[in-house]
Parts: sequence; C-alpha cells; structure tokens
Amino acid sequence: MSATPALRNTPPFVLRAYDHSSHPDRMTFTPPEHIPKQPVFELSALSSGSSGGSPPPPSLRDAPYQRPVNRGSLAIALALRHIGLSGRNEVLVPAYHCGAMIEPILAEGGVPVFYRIRADTTVDLDDMAQRRTPATRVVLVPHFFGFLQPLKAVRAWCDAHDLILIEDCAHAFFGETEGCPVGTQGDYAIGSTWKFFPLNEGGCLVSFRHPMNAIRTRAPHLSEELKAVVNTLEYASHYGRLGVFNPLSKKSFHLKDWLVRRLKSESPSLAPQRRPGEISAPEDFVPAPFNSGFDPKRTTVSGSLWARWVTENASLSFIVEKRRQNYLTLLKASVNLPGCRPLFPHLPEGIVPHVFPLVMDQPMAVFGKLKFAGVPIIRFGEFLWDEMDEGTCQISKDYSRRIFQFPCHQSLQQHELNWMIQVLSAILTGSGSLPPHPDQRIP
Ligand SMILES: Cc1ncc(COP(=O)(O)O)c(C=O)c1O
Repeated sequence: MSATPALRNTPPFVLRAYDHSSHPDRMTFTPPEHIPKQPVFELSALSSGSSGGSPPPPSLRDAPYQRPVNRGSLAIALALRHIGLSGRNEVLVPAYHCGAMIEPILAEGGVPVFYRIRADTTVDLDDMAQRRTPATRVVLVPHFFGFLQPLKAVRAWCDAHDLILIEDCAHAFFGETEGCPVGTQGDYAIGSTWKFFPLNEGGCLVSFRHPMNAIRTRAPHLSEELKAVVNTLEYASHYGRLGVFNPLSKKSFHLKDWLVRRLKSESPSLAPQRRPGEISAPEDFVPAPFNSGFDPKRTTVSGSLWARWVTENASLSFIVEKRRQNYLTLLKASVNLPGCRPLFPHLPEGIVPHVFPLVMDQPMAVFGKLKFAGVPIIRFGEFLWDEMDEGTCQISKDYSRRIFQFPCHQSLQQHELNWMIQVLSAILTGSGSLPPHPDQRIP
C-alpha cells in the first residue's frame, strides 16, 4: 500500500498506544513485499471482463442507505456522530481489536468498554451482558476475517436494552449467514472497501434500517481525487499489472518518487544486506510503528469519485469466486504444515474471506523470517489498546500474538500464491531454501 499518513496527523492517544520510541536503536525497516498484500487494479477485473460465473452473494452495496467515505474507521466515527453520543456514553467493543476501531470512538467522545470473544471469534454475549452499564449506548461487532458471525441473539439483546448495534463489516463486504445477509442486522454497518476492491482508500457507512439524510459531508478536493487515482495506478504498476503500460508507468513513478524525495531532501531507505536464499532476519527487527490511518479531520469528507467508480464497476463474481478459491488453496496447503493451524478450517457457503488467518505456535520465531522473505503478513490486533485491562480476554491476548493473516485476494496470480505457500512451507519446516520471488522472475 502507499505510505500510511504521517504520524503527526494522529492525536496524542495514538502515539501513546503504539509508540516504539522506547526502542530507539531497534530496526524499524519494513522489508519489501514481493507479492501484493491488497487487491491490485486491473482492467480485466472490471464488470465487462467478468468471469460470468454465478451471481454474487449479498453485499453492502445492497443497502438502501449509503454514505461512501475514505476509510472504515471514518465510517465508525460518522455512525457515532449520527447516533449523537452524549456525556460519557460507553461503546462495547471486542477485546480483540485494532486501533482503527477504538480511535473513532475516542474522537467522538465515547468510552470503549471491552468484551470477550470466544475461540471461534464470536461474541461472548454473557460477558457482554455483564459489562453493560446505564451509560452503555452502542455495541460494535466485527465479522472477523470475513467469517460472518450469527447476530440474531446480539440483535435481540440490543433491542431489549435499547442499544444501537454497529455491524463492523471492515473484513466482510460480502456474504450471508443463517439467512441474514451481511449488514442487515446492525442499525448501521461499516465497510472498508479498499480491503476488497483494488483501491488505496475507501470505506462506507451503510444502513438497511435508518435513512442518514441528516449527515452532511463535503466532496474531496481535486488534489485528493487525483491522489486516489495515482495511488491506485502506482500500486498496480509496482506489481506489473498495467499490461503494455508497465514499462512507461514504472519509469514515471520512479521519477515521481525521486522528485518527491528531492523536494523533501530525503535519501532512499537502506535495506539491510542478506545473502541470496538466507532466511534469517536481524534479531532486533521490530515491525514499523502501527498507524491506523484514522484522521478525525476527514470524518465528514465523502469518498473519492474514483473509489466509488471502482466499487460500482468491479466484477463482484470475480472477487467472490477468486477469494474463495484462493482461501481453499491456502487451506489445503497449510493443513499439514508444522507449527500452525488454520483458524477457520472450513469455508462455509456464503462466506467471502478477507484473508487467510493462521494460528502460529511460535509466532516470534517465524515472523521476521516471513517478513524478510517478502511475504505480506497482516496482523490484525497486533497492538491491543494499552488502556484495556490485561486480563480482559485471554483468547484475544493469545490471538493478538499468534494469528497471522495471509492475503487471499482476487488479484493474486497462481505463481504468487504458489510462491507464498513454498516460502511458508520452507520456513515452517526449517528446510532453509527459499524459492526465487516473483519479482526476480520478471525480466
Ligand atoms: C475490524 C476492523 N474494523 C474497522 C477497521 C477500519 O477500517 P479502515 O482501515 O478502512 O479504516 C479495520 C481496519 O483494519 C478493522 O480491521
């Protein structure tokens, strides 16, 4: 993805939660990712180039009330603003979370109260009930990694106590479970379109229940509109997805980077040297500081025209079928690997995964090796909110450390998927020899 927004844009509470400055000497270099972590723009993935398969399952696009925004976290903030939090209203959130779910609550004046999840990532409703107080107003429930959780009981509980349910569909743009299409159980649902569509930004606040006419947003500036297009094309060019335009686009984007560096008087970042095939990572490697990308100043800016166009014109069948197919390939490849187990060993009908989550036995023994081999790993919940009581939920604490997510998005090509599987297998079995990465195969 393009660079995350500068840390100076984040409010002080973000820095306190994620600041790595206590390790000033530690390396925060982020190794290059040899295959794309996110969907990549390709003309062939638009509707006209659709695979013509079966109709896609339900999606957030079906909601009658829609508010496109720039990110899922902004959609959470906008929903809270529409609800109108007052005083010190409490918002129930899962103990397994990321900063992008908590920062909007604080920005809107709410107080996050953390509830437990079960091992299958569903809500622990008994625990949630115990944490309800007279100040509780809102409940946020995510569908982790795209695996929709049954929400009928949570919905009924919210109705019984006059609470507002926000269905967090950042990982689940599509699907249905127990006859309930995604997004229909929440008073509001939020989506993170850039996780499912070939975009570098994009989110949505939708509702199947409440009109949202009172929400006032402004259109992005022209420079923001242009940036949205350029960032998407730059990512596509980086992974060689622009067909005949690849050579020219690569040169143009290199020139652009050079100019930007000159203007900012920066030197290119220096990657540590390692021998070809070597899979060990420097011992003092720590991940780069986390930045959720939430910028409260953008809560009332609507999504870019480009993001809307891509979301409306992408082939949904292609996205859905490819993601399911890639998930099943990763599942088959990983069941016999030592030192890990798939979090969800079955892919039910109607589920469209965001990623492939693997529970690692020795996460820290393999994390640096995988990163340095160039495998894109997503670690949802790696940094839990530092003001949450340590003992709130052992499962969340464990998952925060042990679950790594691997991409299964629609833009992965077969040789990229195979490469990722070979690297994972080499590292987990300790065989030590890594296959050449996909960039090395491009002349
Ligand atoms: C469960 C969940 N909700 C909300 C968000 C916020 O989405 P975005 O990154 O689009 O701001 C994220 C981000 O990863 C998430 O994982």
